[in-house]
Order: sequence, then structure tokens, then C-alpha cells
Amino acid sequence: MPDPHDAATTLAGLLDERWTCRQFLADQVPRETIERLLALGQRTPSWCNTQPWQVVVTSGEATDRFRKELLEHVLSQPAAPDFEFPVAYIDAYRERRRACGFQLYDSVGIVKGDTDGTLRQGLRNFEFFDAPHVAIITTEADLGVYGAIDCGLYVNTFLLGAQSLGLAAAPQAALASYSPFLREYFGIPDNRRVVVGISFGYADLDHPVNGFRTSRAALADTVTWHTS
Ligand SMILES: Cc1cc2nc3c(=O)[nH]c(=O)nc-3n(C[C@H](O)[C@H](O)[C@H](O)COP(=O)(O)O)c2cc1C
Repeated sequence: MPDPHDAATTLAGLLDERWTCRQFLADQVPRETIERLLALGQRTPSWCNTQPWQVVVTSGEATDRFRKELLEHVLSQPAAPDFEFPVAYIDAYRERRRACGFQLYDSVGIVKGDTDGTLRQGLRNFEFFDAPHVAIITTEADLGVYGAIDCGLYVNTFLLGAQSLGLAAAPQAALASYSPFLREYFGIPDNRRVVVGISFGYADLDHPVNGFRTSRAALADTVTWHTS
């Protein structure tokens, strides 16, 4: 029986309980709580301790205005991510992608071939799933792929930090697909690259889209041991 107070059990609890929230309540998160979350994020390790992440955070009317203007942009302009999106999903990646996509669509009653429903659910990304806050994470272009990795680590600290504070969050590459718009809208300098956006707030636990949990591969599928 694991000791419920040991650090690994606490961490496992946060990892097991966290999920990508796709329907939020309208309630604003108090500024002190957001600052506590951001302070946790600052503890993220990075190569040479460069800490390349910069974070734009929206609240209140600023989130609503951003939601409206981004959605208008998405409906009229092509995607233009700073980082290349995956070119293909093969083998196990294809299977895992299909499985979590099926769980998502099934949770909200979208059946295979329902292109309108699929499109509508895709657009929910740009409504931030009704979240009251969005964080846009950017990296420094000169730091290349490792700068982006550092920001990925930051995202994980943010997600686990949110979970530890009773918040819910959704990491969204979808938001990074309109990077030039985000740069212009928020006055982000040209040397910054958008890694990902995170919608966050309080989960609507009664909504069916929040009712499924994804699985993870077995260790045997990801680890190769060399012992002698
Ligand atoms: C870098 C990254 C980008 C993601 N982009 C999106 C996205 O654009 N839209 C979305 O609904 N979920 C997105 N997700 C959430 C993943 O689909 C989710 O993490 C995965 O299916 C595992 O499920 P879980 O987070 O509920 O454990 C993203 C996750 C990560 C880590």
C-alpha cells in the first residue's frame, strides 16, 4: 500500500487526475491564484537555465475580446503555425490519435462522417472551450528546438500546477496554428515563436466532454533496457 503522504504518491495523484478540460465554467480565477500558478511554472528547468518562456495571460473582458477576434480570424484566414505541425501519424501514433479522437467525439455524440459536428468541435478550440483565461507560451527563435523543449516542460509544470490548485486546463497546439495573428494581436516581438496556448479556469464537470479519460501505453512499449 503506497504511503499517501509521500512525494511520489502526491505526484502520481496529480498526474493521474489531470486531464485536458474542454468545457470550462465562466468563473474568473482570482489573480493571486493565477500568480501562484505562474510562480510554480517559473521553477521549470531549462537548458543553461535560459528560461526562454514568455507568457501572455488574459482575464475578464480581454479573454472575451481575444476569443471573438481570433475566431473571426480563423474563419477567414489560413493557418500559419511558427513550428511545423506533424506531417503524418503512423503505426502506434495513428492508433493513439484515433483512439483519443474517438473518445472526444463519442463523448459529445459526434458520429463518424459528421463533418459539420467535427468542424464545430474543432472550432471550440478557438472559443477556448469557454475558458475565462488563456496563456500563450512563446519561445526565443535563436534558442531553436531546445528552447521549444524548455517551453514544453514549462507547459507540463503549468498543467500539473493548475491541477494542484484545483484548476483545469487545456494545452492547445490549435492556438499556435495562428501564430502571426497572436504576435500582432498581443504585440509579441518578431523574435518570439508561439509554442502553444493553454486555456484554463474551473472545469464544468457536468459536461460530457469532460467525462472521458485517455490511456497511456505500457512501459514495454516505450522503454528499452540494456543491463549487461
Ligand atoms: C502540445 C500539446 C498540444 C495539444 N493540442 C491540443 C489541441 O489543440 N486541442 C485539444 O483539444 N487538445 C490538445 N491537446 C490535448 C491532448 O489531446 C491530450 O493531452 C491527450 O489526448 C492526452 O489526454 P489528457 O491530456 O486528457 O490526458 C494537446 C496536448 C499537448 C501536450
